[in-house]
Amino acid sequence: MAEYDYDVLVIGAGPGGYVAAIRAAQLGLKTACAESRETLGGTCLNVGCIPSKAMLHASEYFYAAASGEMAKMGVKVTPELDLDAMHGQRRDSVKQLTGGIEFLFKKNKVDWIKGRATFASAHSVKVGDRTVTAKNIVIATGSSVTPLPGVTVDQKVVVDSTGALELDKVPGKLVVIGGGVIGLELGSVWGRLGAQVTVVEYLDQLLPGMDGDVRKEAAKIFKKQGMTLKLATKVTGVTVKGGKATVAVEPAAGGAGETLEADVVLVAIGRRPNTEGLGLDAIGLAVNARGQIETDHDFATKVPGVWAIGDVIPGPMLAHKAEDEGIAVAENIAGLTGIVNHDVIPGVVYTMPEFAGVGLTEEQAREKGEIKVGKFPMLANSRAKTNHQPDGFVKVIADAKTDKVLGVWCVASVAGTMIAQAAQAMEFGATSEDIAYTCHAHPTHSEAIKEAAMAVTGKPIHI
Ligand code: FAD
Ligand code: NAI
Repeated sequence: MAEYDYDVLVIGAGPGGYVAAIRAAQLGLKTACAESRETLGGTCLNVGCIPSKAMLHASEYFYAAASGEMAKMGVKVTPELDLDAMHGQRRDSVKQLTGGIEFLFKKNKVDWIKGRATFASAHSVKVGDRTVTAKNIVIATGSSVTPLPGVTVDQKVVVDSTGALELDKVPGKLVVIGGGVIGLELGSVWGRLGAQVTVVEYLDQLLPGMDGDVRKEAAKIFKKQGMTLKLATKVTGVTVKGGKATVAVEPAAGGAGETLEADVVLVAIGRRPNTEGLGLDAIGLAVNARGQIETDHDFATKVPGVWAIGDVIPGPMLAHKAEDEGIAVAENIAGLTGIVNHDVIPGVVYTMPEFAGVGLTEEQAREKGEIKVGKFPMLANSRAKTNHQPDGFVKVIADAKTDKVLGVWCVASVAGTMIAQAAQAMEFGATSEDIAYTCHAHPTHSEAIKEAAMAVTGKPIHI
């Protein structure tokens, strides 16, 4: 009889966990995945990436019709919002995709162990009254919403991202606490559908972690779209009465406060790793000051046989980072060499326009040494101009001596798609000249990347 039930047991079936389980099974390892949700796919497929993009896409159509954008192109329509149908197509996409993972588990012979897993030892977990043993256990438990002290989320008047995906009517006034990715994406959804959106952000700019010029451009663009931005402002309290909220705010540096009335308040101040109730004590594994599980380069924790990936470990909390780590950890468990290049992980905010970047910001790059920067405005890109989407720019940052590309930032309607070529170029160690001399199809938004690269060493043609 085998010493363990499984070669690999993955805890959590998000983009990190389900990918790790499938790859482990593909590599011939007997694999199971414990997941406590009713459906597979984790935060991303159930309440994150996928449903938010479904609402972003649908609301963009409504806005294009309602704002007169379509009329400008000769398509005159008076839109009528059917919010139930909009939610219906969102639920449908989620159902299809989560069902797809269940199909992939069956196809690859990954056993789904339904329920919450708690470590009993380094090689066994309890799920309900069942004990499952495995030679290797991968922690892929993801993250959940960071609460704002003193503010209770009721998912009606005060919501988190999950509640904000499900609102059954468009709020008259929406106050968003946190000007990060979730605040801007979901704020955009409801703003496009007619809500008056106010974003309260503690820092003096939106989108921490992104390039300085991108952050400034974001503030300009969201203001132009009608959002009220209260930057360098802190929330001191939220009171709910009669189905409405009053949000007390004051300058982050101190000073006179004010109150904001809201039909709905969205709390989006970040996410924190899921380790509670996992029984880490039973295996002697501690978390760091940020509550994350530390691993080495191979995603091994300090406890032999226990590995960790995704939002629960340090690094950006992104689905594609979790997926790549899922593949790498499975390959490492199988004795292969699984590597993730954490210097080249793109990040995208899926608003209109999209904000995307990969590698170093200009500020980070300057701190490390001498750089050259090339910039090109989307206004001068023929496709963006023709599509009446002139907002944004591309910025390519290269090492002054070697010309190696250190970072690329795009603000454009399809920046999320454009950034893939920059990530690939950086993965191959490209110079700005390599990008500048790569033939790009015309007319495409991506030509702006080529022109920004040309601007690093010489001159772009179209400006
Ligand atoms: P998760 O997806 O969080 O999955 C962990 C799973 O583990 C969960 O299903 C949980 O139920 C399960 N679990 C936890 N503990 C246990 C246990 N003890 N036993 C059994 N099961 C357990 N990222 C992007 O890259 N692009 C986006 O567009 C994007 N949009 C987002 C939008 C929103 C609104 C949110 C909230 C997040 C978004 N993200 C996006 C982030 C993305 O969802 C996460 O980075 C990603 O899901 C992390 O994957 P993971 O596998 O580490 O964890
Ligand atoms: P975030 O970290 O992106 O932004 C949170 C914002 O809240 C920050 O700007 C922060 O300064 C601000 N903040 C913190 N405390 C505050 C307070 N008390 N008052 C006012 N502002 C405060 O976190 P967010 O938006 O909650 O998203 C969580 C994570 O989910 C993201 O970091 C990202 O990793 C992931 N995500 C990714 C998406 C994508 O890739 N498109 C989409 C949505 C989420």
